[in-house]
Amino acid sequence: MSLPDATEALIRRLPKVELHLHIEGTLEPEMVFEKAAKHGVSLAYPSIEALRAAYDFRDLQSFLDIYYAGCDVLRDEQDFYDLCWAYLERAHADNVVHVEIFFDPQTHTARGIPYATVHQGLRRALADGRERLGISSAMILCFLRHLSEEDAFRTLDEAKPFVTDLAGVGLDSGERGNPPSKFERVFAAARALGLAAVAHAGEEGPAAYIREALDRLQVVRIDHGVRCDEDPALVKELAARRMPLTVCPLSNVKLCVYQRMEDHNLARLLAEGVCVTVNSDDPAYFGGYIGDNYRAIAQALPLGAPDLMALARNAVEAAWLPAERKAQLIAEIDRAR
Ligand code: ADE
Ligand code: ZN
Repeated sequence: MSLPDATEALIRRLPKVELHLHIEGTLEPEMVFEKAAKHGVSLAYPSIEALRAAYDFRDLQSFLDIYYAGCDVLRDEQDFYDLCWAYLERAHADNVVHVEIFFDPQTHTARGIPYATVHQGLRRALADGRERLGISSAMILCFLRHLSEEDAFRTLDEAKPFVTDLAGVGLDSGERGNPPSKFERVFAAARALGLAAVAHAGEEGPAAYIREALDRLQVVRIDHGVRCDEDPALVKELAARRMPLTVCPLSNVKLCVYQRMEDHNLARLLAEGVCVTVNSDDPAYFGGYIGDNYRAIAQALPLGAPDLMALARNAVEAAWLPAERKAQLIAEIDRAR
């Protein structure tokens, strides 16, 4: 079944802001093979098709195992540049005008890649994205929550010479058993450096982790957050505070948070006044980029054109952008009708 032409056209036209995008999750199988050949890395899969066929996940951890393994082919600054540039070109085709990317330095420093190599490759691509594609951007350093507080502190230290390039810190990787409170002191140190805080919470973990991220990490957005509806008082509070949720619909279905897109609570949360935004998370692994996420929810959920526009406006509201640029983007969204 395809979307009505008018909906398809609206989704194409909408200026998009992406706030939940792991740059390592944009590593397409084609680039895995290209970089493996470049560095003489042998892969566990014989072909691009065989690798793609392995993207059949039971849960978050079964995805993370493949995702971290794929990163092994990223070794020098040009690899990080190429990864990020390829994403920006795809995003541009989806009419993305602003992106705040997550990156996972510990995935690379643990393999002996210097922090600076990762940071400089990404920074150079984002600068080219601004100049050549008109995409504004921000960098969010994510701590891997399955690792220790000490490891996170070491990573924050490594990032200090580059801190003026960073907009914020985030928290990702396996949620269960790794509550936000484990990183309370690291986040306090990051905030003291002037960084904003966000955290994955309520993806696979309970609603209580959302509350912890708000109270103990003082986050300004919740990444995913869909399990908030296990706590109706929390949903009311999120709506009253206009606390943004960076929701990733295709990711949630691929990782079995919901069995079918029709079961997703995005439309209900939006109707309850929560500042829901649409994002792609790890698009190379989950079957689509941000435009595909809009298409999938428009197809499966009771969302009309005003709702799709509200989702796009919410992302502008939730972005770390100056007020004038926000006003300009809101006006562009209103004209996309
Ligand atoms: N790292 C990359 N994608 C992630 C996700 N959806 N949840 C937690 N950690 C991640
Ligand atoms: Zn994520």
